[in-house]
Amino acid sequence: MALAGLFLLLFLPVHLVINLMLLKSDPDPFNTAAHFMATFPLVKIVEIVLIAAILIHICYGIYLQIMNWLSRPAGYAVRNKSETAFFSRFMIWTGASVLTFLVLHFFNFYFIRLGLVEGNAEDFYSVAHDLFSIPAYNYIYLTCFMLLGLHLFHAFSSAFQTLGLNHRIWTPVVNVLAWIYAIGIPAGFAFISISLWLFR
Ligand code: HEM
Repeated sequence: MALAGLFLLLFLPVHLVINLMLLKSDPDPFNTAAHFMATFPLVKIVEIVLIAAILIHICYGIYLQIMNWLSRPAGYAVRNKSETAFFSRFMIWTGASVLTFLVLHFFNFYFIRLGLVEGNAEDFYSVAHDLFSIPAYNYIYLTCFMLLGLHLFHAFSSAFQTLGLNHRIWTPVVNVLAWIYAIGIPAGFAFISISLWLFR
């Protein structure tokens, strides 16, 4: 589950950087990048791994949460006070909100490419610009980005823990990096959404 999550943590900055091209007034750079991502064979393999990683991550997350509930139905009388543990309690719910977001997001974009939803897969630039001109989508996407941030904070910290990089000196550094990642990535996506909505 952690490996699948790590893969997803690496995917998001790449996705964000490509999406920043939506801010250009010229649609070509973004559409060329999207076309390359959709057709280059190596990227296609990465995409299959990505979808598999998402599915493994979700299924295993649900399984772990159910086992967790079954093993301790009464809960602890005194909770662990660490910052990471605080966020870990909500992982199943923030994860569920990310999953809900992904279903909507796939209907908005990915399913167009797969031919499951109507739209021009060669012009995702216009698809995105049209989508973010609708206020309701901005409200939904911006709310999801905030919940994604909560999910990413714990995800980032626990990924390092899984790699065995828990250390008296390094753990506080990892926690700072987790904050930067968990705020920076959703803020970057929010910046795109708000820019296309209000400033284009
Ligand atoms: C402003 C925000 C975002 C925009 C404009 C955006 C745009 C897009 C577009 C255009 C595609 C289709 C690419 C293609 O099929 O060629 C796509 C796919 C995808 N997006 Fe996003 N996205 C955003 C945020 C997110 C976030 C926050 C996540 C994860 C939580 C995410 C996860 C995915 C995944 C998993 C795919 C399918 C894999 C792929 O095609 O690369 N996206 N997105």
